[in-house]
Amino acid sequence: MTVAPTLPGAVTVRVPAKVNLELRVGPRRPDGFHALATVYQAVSLHDEVSVARWDEWQVVAAGAYADRIPTDGDNLAVRAARLVADRWDVDECLSIRIDKDIPVAGGMAGGSADAAAALVACDQLWGLGLDRDELAELAATLGSDVPFILSGGNAMGSGRGEQLAPVLARGTFHWVFAISDTGLSTPEVYAECDRLRERDGIDVPEPQVSSELMAALRSGDPALLGAALHNDLEPAAFSLRPQLRELRDAGVEFGALGGIVSGSGPTVAFLTESHEASLDLSVSLAASDLCRDLRRAKGPVHGAHVVATPRHAD
Ligand code: C5P
Repeated sequence: MTVAPTLPGAVTVRVPAKVNLELRVGPRRPDGFHALATVYQAVSLHDEVSVARWDEWQVVAAGAYADRIPTDGDNLAVRAARLVADRWDVDECLSIRIDKDIPVAGGMAGGSADAAAALVACDQLWGLGLDRDELAELAATLGSDVPFILSGGNAMGSGRGEQLAPVLARGTFHWVFAISDTGLSTPEVYAECDRLRERDGIDVPEPQVSSELMAALRSGDPALLGAALHNDLEPAAFSLRPQLRELRDAGVEFGALGGIVSGSGPTVAFLTESHEASLDLSVSLAASDLCRDLRRAKGPVHGAHVVATPRHAD
């Protein structure tokens, strides 16, 4: 693992991953994106992004998935920071340290999380005083789910996923995430979804979130939520990675209340009854040899926020 000290004067932001409790994918739009109706939940797998003034642009990666992120201008945190610098005429370079605990290309908004974190961190470092709307507008230009990662909690997403509306929800939910060694490309999964729909002559209606899911969230009952989980991208992810279906089925057989590919995958998310049940499920899945990397998390949690003490304060 890279040793990456946090620089003096750095601002550190903690930022969560997400799971889509429901992801309805509508027709492909003229701009290439798909119309979505989705319900997001922020979950307690976190990255931390620290920014500090530096004499050139620099990305230093640490944490579980450090070796899987770009450290050049393609890095979403760098793109976010440069966007803020350009927009507000800030003529400074930054050292950006990313402590990466959210899987990369896993369908959990790992890249989007770093972009959202960098926006909040730059706002604080440069004393810009941006309000939620200004941050959300910048976020939407960086990725469809970046606005949600800023706000966290539970929310409904429409448009291409960037337009948020609140949802009524109660309770805390306990998840197990089965993480694959290699990621899936989001554009490839959407393209596979289109290909399967065309092949099978499926008529694609305008997407709508189901009343079952909304009722389940209002009730706070994990069994109802487990039964209501749905992802239109799942057939495409299974088509590209057939072993994910076996993994999903195994988790449900081992007692999960519901199992679903997270976003565009390949992470598979399992909802459990309780903290204890999530421990039991992790043990069963680990013993099954279907997945080596298992993480437990709860949701909902807060969106990107400045922290006084970084996880690995040096
Ligand atoms: O917005 P984001 O950068 O996360 O999107 C990555 C890719 O995922 C897009 O380039 C597009 O191929 C696909 N996508 C889509 N429809 C959406 C969101 C993403 O087709 N609503």
